[in-house]
Amino acid sequence: MAYQLLNGKEISAQIKSEIAEEVRQIIRNGGKQPHLAAILIGNDGASETYVAHKIKACEQAGFKSSLFRFKENISEQKLLDKIKEINADDNIDGLIVQLPLPEHISEEKVIETVDPKKDVDGFHPVNAGRMTLGLPTYIPATPKGILELLKRNNIEISGKHCVIIGRSNIVGKPLSILLSQKNETGNATVTLCHSRTKNLKEISLQADILIAAIGKKEFLTADMVKKDAIVIDVGIHRVKSDKTKSGWKLKGDVKFGEVAGKCSYITPVPGGVGPMTIVSLLQNTLAASKKEIYG
Ligand code: GUN
Repeated sequence: MAYQLLNGKEISAQIKSEIAEEVRQIIRNGGKQPHLAAILIGNDGASETYVAHKIKACEQAGFKSSLFRFKENISEQKLLDKIKEINADDNIDGLIVQLPLPEHISEEKVIETVDPKKDVDGFHPVNAGRMTLGLPTYIPATPKGILELLKRNNIEISGKHCVIIGRSNIVGKPLSILLSQKNETGNATVTLCHSRTKNLKEISLQADILIAAIGKKEFLTADMVKKDAIVIDVGIHRVKSDKTKSGWKLKGDVKFGEVAGKCSYITPVPGGVGPMTIVSLLQNTLAASKKEIYG
């Protein structure tokens, strides 16, 4: 059976236009334009690209956005003060601090300083706790985007064996909780694999839905995938290429060329999970501006 691509680019464009229509309606009715603030520290190439995509998506959806840039050597206190200032700004609905942070800044302190009401990344312990309990909250953008991608392709999750490779706080861990939750985007049997998993291949071969979120280029090979599995690739790795104008191209955590032929569905890189992540952030920001979660 030929595989089908899970086209995140197309679906995210569709969702973005739905959001843009809703924003036009809100503004027509005299409501507030959603406003996302982003803090970017330093000049990491990947972070620059991600934040640029987020800002561009805000424009496309009719949101206001504010980008606050700081040098790599900003003090932790200055950064925390800026976060508090944004927390107190009634015009700003959502705030993200792009990760990773420089080593001298505590990620934990930064995340805990963001007001949970504005934490559209869903990283604050209050929001992570609410997610774990199945309460209304901001779901982290990448897991949320993956669930939406499956839903919009009518892929049943209930009863499936989902194997996740990678236990990060941003992707693997929240996804393992969401997929096992007793609700319409859950009810799966979940196995969370990581760097200490001994029999990884034996487990991955049992997966109906296999999610590679390990951060290692082309880690997942065909011999690790069951025939007709659904494969979700969360990885983004830049590699040099003399075949593209930019001089580089993107690869995922999956060795697409050999894995795709074994799958029923697979996400491409780029154009799979990445654009779904961005649109999920827009959905969370819209929810924040409508005060859907915290009133
Ligand atoms: N770095 C990598 N992914 C993310 C994300 O989803 N949010 C933020 N703030 N930083 C990231």
